[in-house]
Amino acid sequence: MSSVQAGRTVTGPLVLVNADHPLSPAPPPDLLPPDPLRPEVLMERRASHLLRACLQSIGGLGAILPVSGWRSREEQQAIWDDTMAREGAEFTHSYVARPGCSEHQTGLAVDLAQAAPHIDFIRPHFPHTGVCGTFRRRAADYGFIERYPAGKEAVTGIAHEPWHFRYVGVPHAGIMASRGLVLEEYLALLREEHVERPLTYRSDFRTFQIRYCPAGELGPVPFEGEGYRQISGDNCGGLVVTIWR
Ligand code: DAL
Ligand code: ZN
Repeated sequence: MSSVQAGRTVTGPLVLVNADHPLSPAPPPDLLPPDPLRPEVLMERRASHLLRACLQSIGGLGAILPVSGWRSREEQQAIWDDTMAREGAEFTHSYVARPGCSEHQTGLAVDLAQAAPHIDFIRPHFPHTGVCGTFRRRAADYGFIERYPAGKEAVTGIAHEPWHFRYVGVPHAGIMASRGLVLEEYLALLREEHVERPLTYRSDFRTFQIRYCPAGELGPVPFEGEGYRQISGDNCGGLVVTIWR
């Protein structure tokens, strides 16, 4: 029987990166552009494929532009310094994560804009109407959530950013969207209520079960041999184990 030790795995689609949970220095992930017409905007391979698939399926390629994807720590530092100089501290603390604490550094986050002659790099316009609205309705099916919604500023530490989407994978994006949870809240729910008893989620075609392995716990891999299984670190020392049935 194989075993897992929570605390070792710090990668995966559910890693939490915020002011309280900085990212450890790590080599860049495997990166690809979701939109070949904007090769400078890169995302982690799986997130990139799924963003492209979503944009293709809704006819959004060219109408929705990826503005900023993966950033190195140095790039995040340059954005922080530049925004501080131009806009001041209050704006910068609201809309720019501290270097080392930006989920853009994972390659799992992307800022999207409605195509326009001028695009604001820090706060791109991404409305709730038209093809952008269609993207919002389909995003969770492809594993994406709006990461910084209105009303959750005290939890995320970031102002409302209707343009910033984060890949967390299926089924987690659908669970968060349907329950109105941000990533901080979703991981807390798993940690507090789903160590012994799995969270069960049924979509149209499948049943998913999700369990949390707390920091330091050494034990058998949950759900071993029961189906397709995914393990993600949460950057808080634990692991989230998901099975597809
Ligand atoms: N705009 C988000 C919070 C970032 O800088 O990562
Ligand atoms: Zn962003």
